Amino acid sequence: LSNEFLLEYEGILIPRETHSLESLKFAQDFKFKDDDVVAVTYPKSGTTWMQEILPLVLSGGDLTPIQSTVNWDRVPWLEETRLANVVDKMTSPRAMVSHFPYNLMPSSFHSSKAKVIYVMRNPKDVAVSSFYFHQMASFLEDPGTFDEFLDKFLEGRVLFGKWTDHVSSWKLAKLGERILFLTYEEMVQDLGAAIRRISDFLCLDLSEDIIQKIAEHCTFKSMKANTMSNFSLVPKKYMDSDKSPFLRKGVAGDWKNHFNSEQEARFTSVIQKELEAAGLSFPFN
Ligand code: PPS
Repeated sequence: LSNEFLLEYEGILIPRETHSLESLKFAQDFKFKDDDVVAVTYPKSGTTWMQEILPLVLSGGDLTPIQSTVNWDRVPWLEETRLANVVDKMTSPRAMVSHFPYNLMPSSFHSSKAKVIYVMRNPKDVAVSSFYFHQMASFLEDPGTFDEFLDKFLEGRVLFGKWTDHVSSWKLAKLGERILFLTYEEMVQDLGAAIRRISDFLCLDLSEDIIQKIAEHCTFKSMKANTMSNFSLVPKKYMDSDKSPFLRKGVAGDWKNHFNSEQEARFTSVIQKELEAAGLSFPFN
């Protein structure tokens, strides 16, 4: 399945630009600490958002991390090459992100008490967001037509494999109190309430004022205006925001502007069947 853009690793496809066999080995050998927190997402489900929220929650609302450090260094990806450069500078409690399905988590994750926040997004919106991302990122293959891209998405011939496999791997993982499930949609609907859930999950006692302050700095608008968070520091030859900005629309339900009724029926039917086979239900419209 590997091609010039993607590397096949343990049955899933991973972008070569930001990952390497060394970085994947580094992730497998990574030593999780008990007070680490990792936000896990299928691509385009809210990763960048968590890279903004987590440092603010952990710092009790101190804005320094989001004003002074680019998001990929302040909350690095477990599996990307960048981690090796920044890991020694990270202070505990450390926050990371990952697109790994559960089975790729390193053994130290299982023997630690590190916590996971799994952020899930309506897969129809994930597919739309990913389609635009493939158009603007030169390190990913051209997505073709939207219809062609939907087929690839449903077959799992996309970054980090099939959406249903990813979601079910984490939904079925028996992590008890170590995992919090959030949806992108609840974050859109009431960001303050979602931040409160995160703060409670991490056993932090943040006041309502601090929660509201954090929420203000993590709106789509605030993040778009923050050079450390809007990917404007990535050279245009890698990401061309004239084709589509990384922080593109930031809404729930944009799929309605892209799917025709046949595509919607096909997509929902495939996803629903696969989730049902895994004993899960489809929580989105
Ligand atoms: S990636 O490439 O996997 O790291 O992408 P990821 O960050 O997971 O997903 C990108 C989408 O998240 C949207 N986003 C937000 N939406 C609302 N509010 C805030 N603050 C926010 N931050 C990021 C981003 O715009 C992408 O979604 P689309 O639908 O393309 O706009």
